[in-house]
Amino acid sequence: MDNTETETLSSDDQFWAEIRRNHFLLNPEVTFLQGGSVGPSPRPVVDKVTESIRAFESDPLHHQGVFHPLVQEAREKLAAFVGAHPDRIAFVQNTTMGMSVPAQGLTFKAGDEVLMTDQEYPAVSACWWYIAERYGMTIRTVELPLAIESPEQIVRAMASGITPNTRVLVVSHVYWTTGLAIPLTELVRLGRDHGLWVIVDGAHAVGMVPLRLDDAHPHCYISSCHKWLLSAKGTGMLYVSDDAQDHVRPLILGRNVYPNPKASRFDMVGTRDMTPFLGLAVAIDFQMSIGWERIRAYCQGLAGYLKERVKRIKGARVLTPADPTLSGFITTFTIDGADLPKLQQQLWHEARIETTCFHIRNIPVFRISTHFYNSRQDIDKLVSEIQKRLS
Ligand SMILES: Cc1ncc(COP(=O)(O)O)c(C=O)c1O
Repeated sequence: MDNTETETLSSDDQFWAEIRRNHFLLNPEVTFLQGGSVGPSPRPVVDKVTESIRAFESDPLHHQGVFHPLVQEAREKLAAFVGAHPDRIAFVQNTTMGMSVPAQGLTFKAGDEVLMTDQEYPAVSACWWYIAERYGMTIRTVELPLAIESPEQIVRAMASGITPNTRVLVVSHVYWTTGLAIPLTELVRLGRDHGLWVIVDGAHAVGMVPLRLDDAHPHCYISSCHKWLLSAKGTGMLYVSDDAQDHVRPLILGRNVYPNPKASRFDMVGTRDMTPFLGLAVAIDFQMSIGWERIRAYCQGLAGYLKERVKRIKGARVLTPADPTLSGFITTFTIDGADLPKLQQQLWHEARIETTCFHIRNIPVFRISTHFYNSRQDIDKLVSEIQKRLS
């Protein structure tokens, strides 16, 4: 089979092609396979934010008042989307900032241990290394297995790192490296059963994986809605469970800290641009109007298609679990014997394909993010452009 195979578009493919054409500003000359880093907001989000900025500037003080209830509506919408009570949702700028809240806000002592994997995002691991140094704590790192066959394997790997001194468990819901989606509920249970603070980096999960945060019940769950939810940039979410709220000191003390029995005490405060959060509400409405389950089904199909097609590249090995319950819309692969950083540059400069390339334990990998603005043609193009350069 070759590229012509996908030239006949099914009605479903046409539906998604129209969504992309009508609702995204993406440059048609670029094959954008990098939404895992930062997602492209659809037109309605961009329009909402720009209209809101214009309205605001016409009478700033009046619009501060107008925006306030709209931001609360956005909080309620996001809360419903992630299966949480709105009183447990704080608005932060991004995952980096949200992670700092429990890291800076919980109290630790020398000798306490933080347990995490070797594949936490650098900004997140740096945050905990900093805290560990400040308190004289130890960071215990578990190597996340690269070939994951079952959810229990991940739970066993993390359990093996718990000691009597462990105080905090830091895990990612969807790993930025391989796209592995962990069994959240089981890991939260593991941590809670051992009396640990369970802090979850959900940067990639919101908009990718169905969430029932109140049921999963981590102490903190943090995300960047500008990734897979395609929200305006700078819309981060921090979930704080009821039993953690009184133990975490807010990073910034604004008028929302007292008296306040809710997670909004952890919000970004003071005068600032709130229009991205108005865009957040529209980003959720936009995906709901298409149908989030429909989006998920399409994206899972695309990821499955990519995993299959990559196998046609000589020497390629997919590191993302094949099981769709253990993965989402990120697909990571290596190509034995190939110079991946060079290939990535060539793909960009010669074929305008946007990918990312890094190392996992000295293995060079490509990470490909596919969302509903992508198509099987994008995947075919990626695979054929790689094959051309390796032959
Ligand atoms: C797993 C993970 N955590 C945290 C972050 C940081 O997100 P942000 O830059 O929005 O703070 C990223 C960014 O790519 C990520 O992939």
